[in-house]
Amino acid sequence: MQAIVEQLEAKRSAARLGGGQKRIDAQHAKGKLTARERIDVLLDEGSFEELDMYVEHNCVDFGMPEQVIPGDGVVTGSGTINGRLVYVFSQDFTVFGGSLSERHAQKICKIMDTALKVGAPVIGLNDSGGARIQEGVASLGGYAEVFQRNVLASGVVPQLSLIMGPCAGGAVYSPAMTDFIFMVKDSSYMFVTGPDVVKTVTNEVVTQEELGGAVTHTTKSGVADVAFENDIEALWAARTFIDYLPLSNREDVPERPTADPYDRFEESLDTLIPANANQPYDMHELIRKTVDEGDFFELQPAHAGNIIIGFGRIEGRTVGIVANQPMVLAGCLDINSSKKAGRFVRFCDAFDIPIITFVDVPGFLPGTQQELNGIIKHGAKLLFAYAEATVPKITVITRKAYGGAYDVMASKHLRGDLNYAWPTAEIAVMGAKGAVEIIFRGKTPEEIAARTKEYEERFANPFVAASKGFIDEVIAPHSTRKRIALGLRKLRNKQLENPWKKHDNIPL
Ligand code: HXC
Repeated sequence: MQAIVEQLEAKRSAARLGGGQKRIDAQHAKGKLTARERIDVLLDEGSFEELDMYVEHNCVDFGMPEQVIPGDGVVTGSGTINGRLVYVFSQDFTVFGGSLSERHAQKICKIMDTALKVGAPVIGLNDSGGARIQEGVASLGGYAEVFQRNVLASGVVPQLSLIMGPCAGGAVYSPAMTDFIFMVKDSSYMFVTGPDVVKTVTNEVVTQEELGGAVTHTTKSGVADVAFENDIEALWAARTFIDYLPLSNREDVPERPTADPYDRFEESLDTLIPANANQPYDMHELIRKTVDEGDFFELQPAHAGNIIIGFGRIEGRTVGIVANQPMVLAGCLDINSSKKAGRFVRFCDAFDIPIITFVDVPGFLPGTQQELNGIIKHGAKLLFAYAEATVPKITVITRKAYGGAYDVMASKHLRGDLNYAWPTAEIAVMGAKGAVEIIFRGKTPEEIAARTKEYEERFANPFVAASKGFIDEVIAPHSTRKRIALGLRKLRNKQLENPWKKHDNIPL
């Protein structure tokens, strides 16, 4: 018996070496951890239970039968993060560049199927050269099997992708269908086709970094959510992040003990809004002063900065926060910000995470660039997302809520549960000057000035909306946290259902 156990240990040790010490050293030389080292950082110590360690590829072409490596380039299994169950796959770049074979795909599918059955998040650590070239269509089929499961799992269990190496071809589409993507700077790339193909087809000369590096995708394209300095930072952030999420759509949001009193007053918020309506202020200040202990996990901080999205907690329970940011483009809604916040709102709704919306929005960004690129359809995404959401929705208008953007930002009319305004709120069709120049076109400058003042006095406040019941209460800024906390307590058992349908048809 002893000998048999020793043989098993030897087999395991061989499997753990993946593509061999030389390739592990090369991985380390690039500043990257190996697939197993990453899992060790991600999961609670000793909690990882590996599956399918001895799975081998079944390819008979291109001399592949002589190159069989147990595990076939991906480490899969389950473990815990702060005691909560998660399923993980971690691609091993030392084995055929982490490329995806039929069997490699089957391993990923197996843990996705199980995660879906038991209701636990799936975390993918991606480091892959794409489809296993030697396998041809078998590998493409494998990708499609993974894609199919990404779609079935969407809205059922949270899916988080960490991009930790080159991800080309099929390797980008699975992450693209997961809920969140974290990337590592200088060592991770995502592109459908790499720089060489780009050069051949379009004659453009571009580096990997420019085409699909972490900075590109977290600033320009918005494909990824957050960029981290190295593997360890990204994996630790993933641990923190998973703590905000429910394990599945069948489970409640996690609850964490907090010492932060629900009724903490923040006197400094009473002076957050500058005297001059055109002067910006940082909406992060309001967010941090509202959530428990100032902890806010921001997503896409470097993309479409005119809207802020992320998770915080109130009384220990997760909330999703969406907030216009007056510091960027005056907080206007545009194509990118609508897409960014729309998807976030839908995630929160799918997983029963209440949405807190802080509003200071002068409207949609005007201009040909926006119109020709489809702001109508993209802006409608956010409108649609808020309107279909049935989770508790609490809205606080701090300053401007103009035009269609007033409607969009979780207004009472889109089934906002509690719609608060600060006394500094201005709720109107548009800013006073613009409004007067339209309805009093051709009048003298003196008359325009007088009418502007009149318009401001009439509409640059929350009371007209409050008199119609569109605003439930005008609250003191310092009491914002308390109001939200009490609102969330009362809304905890909220029940609201949309009419039955196969699915809706959100303007994609
Ligand atoms: C088989 C692969 C591979 C692949 C890399 N390798 N990619 N083996 N299939 N797709 C192997 C290499 O042969 C090498 O083996 C080892 O992995 C490391 O690769 P290197 O090229 O030495 O590493 P590096 O210089 O870091 O470059 C990494 C890379 C490059 C950028 C990922 O390997 C590359 O461009 N690979 C091909 C990418 C690609 O075109 N994939 C197919 C996409 S099409 P040894 O034995 O030397 O260690 C696709 C279709 C799916 O995915 C579409 C679904 C919608």
